Amino acid sequence: MSRLARSPLAFMVAPIAAGAAWLGYGSIVAGVTVLIAASLAWVALRPALPAAGGVRIGWAILAAVATAAALIQFVPYGRDHTNPPITAEPVWDRAETRALAVRACYDCHSSETAWPWYTDVAPLSWLATNHVEEGRAILDFSSWDRPQHELDEMAETIAEGEMPPRYYTILHSTARLSAAEKQQLIDGLRATLAASPPG
Ligand code: HEC
Repeated sequence: MSRLARSPLAFMVAPIAAGAAWLGYGSIVAGVTVLIAASLAWVALRPALPAAGGVRIGWAILAAVATAAALIQFVPYGRDHTNPPITAEPVWDRAETRALAVRACYDCHSSETAWPWYTDVAPLSWLATNHVEEGRAILDFSSWDRPQHELDEMAETIAEGEMPPRYYTILHSTARLSAAEKQQLIDGLRATLAASPPG
């Protein structure tokens, strides 16, 4: 019994099962996190097992952090990445305006959000989901049949570099707009809004 308990397998059976269940959900990273947590727990606790040595504190702390990182993967919030249906789009003034908006705004202000692999990993999945929910609630280019909010702010937020948000363009370099592209998007959105108001 004590030999079995001292084997790394004893620490891995449950996490491997949990990790495998999660892989069905679609994230390899979550599974790997669980395995790292189990390995660290094993390193930390092994010497103490039959009563020798005591727990090595540094490893125990690492194991606790890794276990927490693994456990938060199972929180349901942020895992549903089903995009709502597109009910109506603006009649864009030019295809180039739409292309710029898709590049810089659509991940948060449309139903065409792309969800890269790291949006499956908590806590990033929570942040991404929250920003998409908030973004769509204010302005949604895929629900142009509904009233939209703060449209008069649009030009200003783009010109001042407030939108797209900086934390986002760090990860999405393609969403960065040059000064010329910003101006082109502002002019295009103004023309689009004038000809095709929402609601
Ligand atoms: C990473 C997600 C994300 C992207 C990309 C993004 N937005 Fe936003 N946007 C938000 C969120 C979240 C809010 C509401 C909270 C806030 O104001 O920060 C918001 C708010 C706004 C508002 C309301 C005014 C304000 O500042 O609160 C406007 C207008 C807006 N966005 C336009 C845009 C435009 C135009 C683009 C593309 C150039 C864009 N956004 C890109 C997430 C995003």
